[in-house]
Amino acid sequence: MANYDFQVLVLGSGPGGYVAALRAAELGMKTACVEKMETLGGTCLNVGCIPSKALLQSSESYEFIVERAGEQGIAVKGATFDLDAMMKRKATIVKGLVDGIAMLFKGKKIERLQGTAKFIDPHTVDINGKKVTAENIIIATGSESISLPFLPFDEKRVVSSTGALSLKTVPKKLLVIGAGAIGVELASVYRRLGSKVSIIEMLDTITPAMDAAICKQLQTLLKKQGIEFYLGAKVKSGIINDASVTLSVEYENKPMTMEGDVVLVAVGRRPYTKALDLDKAGMTLSPKGFVPVDANFRTTQPHIYAIGDVIEGPMLAHKASSEGIAAVELIAGHETHLNYMAIPNVIYTHPEVAAVGLTEAEARAAGLDIIIGTSFFRGNGRARCSGETDGFVKVIGEKKSNRLIGMHMIGAHASEMIAEGMLAMDKKATIADIAYACHAHPSLSETIMEAAQAAKGS
Ligand code: NAI
Repeated sequence: MANYDFQVLVLGSGPGGYVAALRAAELGMKTACVEKMETLGGTCLNVGCIPSKALLQSSESYEFIVERAGEQGIAVKGATFDLDAMMKRKATIVKGLVDGIAMLFKGKKIERLQGTAKFIDPHTVDINGKKVTAENIIIATGSESISLPFLPFDEKRVVSSTGALSLKTVPKKLLVIGAGAIGVELASVYRRLGSKVSIIEMLDTITPAMDAAICKQLQTLLKKQGIEFYLGAKVKSGIINDASVTLSVEYENKPMTMEGDVVLVAVGRRPYTKALDLDKAGMTLSPKGFVPVDANFRTTQPHIYAIGDVIEGPMLAHKASSEGIAAVELIAGHETHLNYMAIPNVIYTHPEVAAVGLTEAEARAAGLDIIIGTSFFRGNGRARCSGETDGFVKVIGEKKSNRLIGMHMIGAHASEMIAEGMLAMDKKATIADIAYACHAHPSLSETIMEAAQAAKGS
């Protein structure tokens, strides 16, 4: 490693960075990880996936007790919730996980460097005044919420997902701009806790990355739960008042105003490369602000790699982790495997949405001759026993090869069930492989098998 301080220096400790650091240490490389926050884990663990899932669970448990326990002969009178206690539970879960990473770092002798990293030259990084050199550097600095120019985040009335995960009270009226994963998940949390929620989305569909049939069903179910949708709507401006926010919105070619006590802006995230001084390392960003990399996560500097939200592709924690492992294994001279067609995408609404591979529209746009099979949970014994009969599984196969090319589902526990689709995609399984595989009975997963049988035409 010549005269470098470290063999691998990872910038950022989110699910991309900390996983990369752990793998590098496991492979025997002298490793350090820089993090500007006080805790490890990045957005996902501190202010993203994990805290949102904690609040989604608490609010869902409350709603089950109030709305659905009665269906199972359970009478609970006067059920209440304590937002502060839910927030404390969320904080305890986060602390347990981020402390866990710190312990793993210690155990694997990964040096933890706290501060903001910026390049001085291609092998040297400044961390709050301290110079550190490394043979290989992995940029894993993640992403940040995009704000609207006329509605800057104050994290009180105009909140990003970070602020929305720490509200002190349940808003009476919550306006959500953007019907992506963050929008529909956090809208669900506060709707369950009593907010009146309206979602304003500029496209004609919610969750546009998902298969159209799934989006339609999700919107129907969320609407039934009480969320109001304004699709094809354009937010023109906003005024922050003392106790509310007023939005001017163009909807169905007419101007209208909407007022809420809190506005969540969830219009996407952008790569976070601020302060890195990439030019000092001889690197430039793509026009969209991503760090350009080749198929091996190498930037224009062959010893500097980039993974996760700072590079093009879906901004998903598990994608970042897989890329982190792959990049480190390449540095160590190992062969590695990452199949982008087999990266699942999940939305944690109730019911959940999960997908892997191509949507029907993507498959048709690619000119593929496809077969499709659908099976509904209302015909599934286990779903009936658990009172979770909403939704369906849709599988898409390529006709000639019979290969699975996409699996889409909306239903209870879809986040867990999609693992079957992920493995089937990764291992290039056919529709027949899934249709003939003996699935446990009674289980929700039988719906996957039946969707495959329907696609097969038997
Ligand atoms: P997103 O990109 O998923 O959705 C943003 C939505 O806002 C889109 O539907 C877009 O059409 C809409 N939009 C954009 N500008 C708008 C405007 N001016 N007015 C109205 N609508 C507008 O972004 P989101 O939900 O903020 O999430 C950010 C990232 O985090 C995504 O990449 C997402 O995949 C990831 N994430 C993943 C989660 C999961 O895996 N469950 C949970 C939360 C976030």
